[in-house]
Parts: sequence; C-alpha cells; structure tokens
Amino acid sequence: MIQVAPSLLSADFARLGDAVTMVNSSGASMIHIDVMDGMFVPNLTIGFPVIKAISAIAEKPLDVHMMVMDPGRFVDRVRDAGAAVMNVHWEACTHLDRVVHAIKDAGMRAAVTLNPATPVMLLRDIIAELDMVLLMSVNPGFGGQRFIPNTLRKVRELRTLIAECGSEAVIEIDGGVNLSTAPDLIEAGADVLVAGSYVFGAADPYKAISDLIELSK
Ligand code: DX5
Ligand code: ZN
Repeated sequence: MIQVAPSLLSADFARLGDAVTMVNSSGASMIHIDVMDGMFVPNLTIGFPVIKAISAIAEKPLDVHMMVMDPGRFVDRVRDAGAAVMNVHWEACTHLDRVVHAIKDAGMRAAVTLNPATPVMLLRDIIAELDMVLLMSVNPGFGGQRFIPNTLRKVRELRTLIAECGSEAVIEIDGGVNLSTAPDLIEAGADVLVAGSYVFGAADPYKAISDLIELSK
C-alpha cells in the first residue's frame, strides 16, 4: 500500500502545531520536513529548533529533506532534533558513502535524493546501503510546482536497479504529487508520496491524505 508523507512546507507556519496534530491523526506514514539553506536551493525555510519543536509533538517519524550544501556537516544535529530519516541530495555531497554511513551510525535511516536531471544509475554503487531513495519530481526549493513527467521513467529504472542490486531501499517521490499524478507513480513502483500543497491546500486535509492512500487499494 502506498505511504503518504505530508510536507509541512505548505502548512500555515503560524499554526505549525495544528498541522502536525492533523498529520498525527491522519493515515500518513511520516511527516516530511524541508530544510533549505539559500545556497543549494534559492529559498530558506526551517532549521533545527523548529524541527525539535515539531518532534516534541509528532507521533509519526520525521523525514527530514536536507536541501543544503554539504549536509554531512549536520548529521548529529539532525538526529538530535528528532529525525528518523535524513534525506541528503546526491548533488550536495562530495563524499556520499561517508555521509550515508554517518547517518546510519547516528541511528537514522539513510536516504539519498536525486534532482530531476540527475540519472538514477549514479546510485549503483551506494543503493545497497540505502533505506530510501527520494526522486525529485520538481526542481527543489518551492512547493506548488508542476510535476515533471520524466519522473515516471526514473521510478521504473530505480525499481530495476534496486532489484538488480538486492537493495531494500524504498522509493519516495517529492513534488507535484496530487490525485492526478499519483496513480501513474504508484503503477510505476513508488512506495512513498510526499505531498505539500495538495494536502495543505485542500479543504479537508485528512480526506486528501486518505484519497491518496485509497488509490493503491
Ligand atoms: C520542494 C520540497 C517539497 C515540497 C513539495 O523543494 O522538497 O517537499 O513541499 O510541495 P508540493 O507537494 O506542493 O509540490
Ligand atoms: Zn521535500
């Protein structure tokens, strides 16, 4: 069954606690948190103190998506803030193998994220070590962008690579996920769908989440 990870980026930041409470009582599997540094992506969002405050009331694992240069600098602080999964971009790590092992040694699940123009095959020599791969289906930095259809081909390629390498990584998709784009993603082999504006822009966010889950039933 498909898992859903609502992205707090599209929540009302003046009512972040209410957004977390909503996700707690929904069918979502994780809470997706977008950290941006204004260098790797042209935006700034939230940092460690806010993740820690979310963690104090969250009843679902925190999936922390680090859109920052050289994210290996922050492994211990991401763990201390309460993350269950630390997502680092392939494009932002010079020594990816070292960063992935540091994340696992810190007791978190290790995930690597690929930008839309980064080929899946670049993960061949690390995939066996990963708990999750996040494929960006928009260029990272902002919520509410349009889904890039080429992602579907990348999901299929990644499914094949995971099988060939005996990896247990799950496939997560982030960007432009909604009721129109999700069915093809599920069919292609996605395991986890991140959804921001689709969930928090909905009149009924609980229903938006359960509608996504229902697609795979
Ligand atoms: C964008 C972030 C996403 C964002 C997705 O860089 O990584 O997690 O919240 O937003 P939607 O679902 O609106 O495309
Ligand atoms: Zn994200």
